[in-house]
Amino acid sequence: RKRVAVLISGGGSNMLALADACAAPDFPAEIVGVISDKKAAGGLAKAAARGIPTFALERKDYASKAEHEAAVLEALASCKPDIVCLAGYMRLLSAEFIRPYAGRILNIHPSLLPLFPGLHTHQRAIDAGMRVAGCTVHFVTEGMDEGPILAQAAVPVLTDDTAETLAARVLTVEHQTYPLALWLVASGERAFPHDGEKSKAAPVCNDPQA
Ligand code: GAR
Repeated sequence: RKRVAVLISGGGSNMLALADACAAPDFPAEIVGVISDKKAAGGLAKAAARGIPTFALERKDYASKAEHEAAVLEALASCKPDIVCLAGYMRLLSAEFIRPYAGRILNIHPSLLPLFPGLHTHQRAIDAGMRVAGCTVHFVTEGMDEGPILAQAAVPVLTDDTAETLAARVLTVEHQTYPLALWLVASGERAFPHDGEKSKAAPVCNDPQA
């Protein structure tokens, strides 16, 4: 089984969805550590309750972004992960951070990338008059919310949606899409496409035809 470390900043519901998937005996991955940049992140207690080692490393306890990243890298290294999953980790990773895990870091973003990268995705989707929204799991590269797409899922945008109601609807499909994407990578079905190699088609997680 592939060793997976999960980075969080908040409630950790995606981390829990991954942990639930990993609890199945035939799932090709296990969660070996959860690292948060917020001591108060709700996900830390949820991970600890499942016996997963946790680490809390606040940015403000370090003099610079580089020193904070070095501490997170050290915690990561102690977990010896094969795969790193960003699950609501609200920090942009530097090239130095990515290098040791290049091609092995996944991120979930609550929009249909490449639309609406960055913050306030749901309000921006509503303001743009979108009738569908969704989530994307992708390999992490240096650009924010860039990198080859692994899986997506779509949901409708309803006429009376607020950013909060839309976020909640998207979150429910995030919990299906991230485990699917992790399965694809951990099982060897998908890998980071190198040297102009064409990436295999990304599945739509909630495709009724699939
Ligand atoms: C999720 O909606 C995730 O897609 C989003 O934060 C939420 C975390 O929820 N991530 C980003 O916006 C990253 N740019 P969770 O802590 O309950 O998994």
